[in-house]
Amino acid sequence: CHVALLVGGASGEREVSLASGDGARQALEEAGYNVTVLDPSVKTDLKTLIDGDFDVAFICLHGKYGEDGTLQGLLEMIGLPYIGSGVWSSSLAIDKAKSKVFYQMSDIPVPPSITLYADNQVDIDSLVDDLGDHCVVKPATEGSALGVFIVEGKDEIQEAIEKVWDFDDEILVEKYVEGKELTVAVVGNEDPRALPIIEIVPVNEFYDYESKYTPGASQHICPARLSDETTQRVQELAVKAHLALGCSGVSRSDFILDNDGTCWILETNTIPGMTGTSLLPDAARAAGISFAQLCTMLIGYALE
Ligand code: DAL
Ligand code: MG
Repeated sequence: CHVALLVGGASGEREVSLASGDGARQALEEAGYNVTVLDPSVKTDLKTLIDGDFDVAFICLHGKYGEDGTLQGLLEMIGLPYIGSGVWSSSLAIDKAKSKVFYQMSDIPVPPSITLYADNQVDIDSLVDDLGDHCVVKPATEGSALGVFIVEGKDEIQEAIEKVWDFDDEILVEKYVEGKELTVAVVGNEDPRALPIIEIVPVNEFYDYESKYTPGASQHICPARLSDETTQRVQELAVKAHLALGCSGVSRSDFILDNDGTCWILETNTIPGMTGTSLLPDAARAAGISFAQLCTMLIGYALE
């Protein structure tokens, strides 16, 4: 089986993707696959992808032009099966604001929020009336917590909004929810199942870019320290989110469990990170699935 391992790309998460690609290449080779690494931001590599003799594409791209349905569209057009979600689901999941509509239709709690578009005038007073003055300001379609600010007070919110326009022309201002950061990976197609929950304990204020990718800058506790009842409830929410967005193969949804026991969804990643410090491979290991076995499973779902 000849695998086109797609890495790099042109998003803000390019470096993360290259690191995910390294992790996945080793795992795929260990599993016995013949692997060709291609960077879709390089024209000659794209030509090789289109003209090459591949059986499946293993996508390790995060963010725009990789996780957002664009690359998936190209792969559909050339008839090459690929791991993870299809075009529509990928483009929905990349947008944290639009995903909320689908979560709500499935009764998954979402923190109250307001979406701003580049030509919107922001009325900070009414924004604070609606959300309170402790907010998270983030680009709607970025990943890896790039451009995410946790702020308090009208001035800080306004300042953060100005900064986040550099990352995206769609901004989500969300009510800050205090609680445990949890993430739940889900694998499978028609009958998806959740892997063990990971509880993230960052050294920084929250699980920001540095905490995500600096070894030792966050602690992953897996399985998370939760009662059996809560574990089951949160895992069910993750499966619901996977289905609500129409995901296939794999997804990883991020949540905050507040002190009253409500579990709020923040987002779903359709191509979760696969670097040495990433969550999906850790969750799989906790379920007794090695990274190599996980890659084999994802390819199996792609070829189903
Ligand atoms: N967006 C990064 C890669 C993640 O969620 O793992
Ligand atoms: Mg993400």
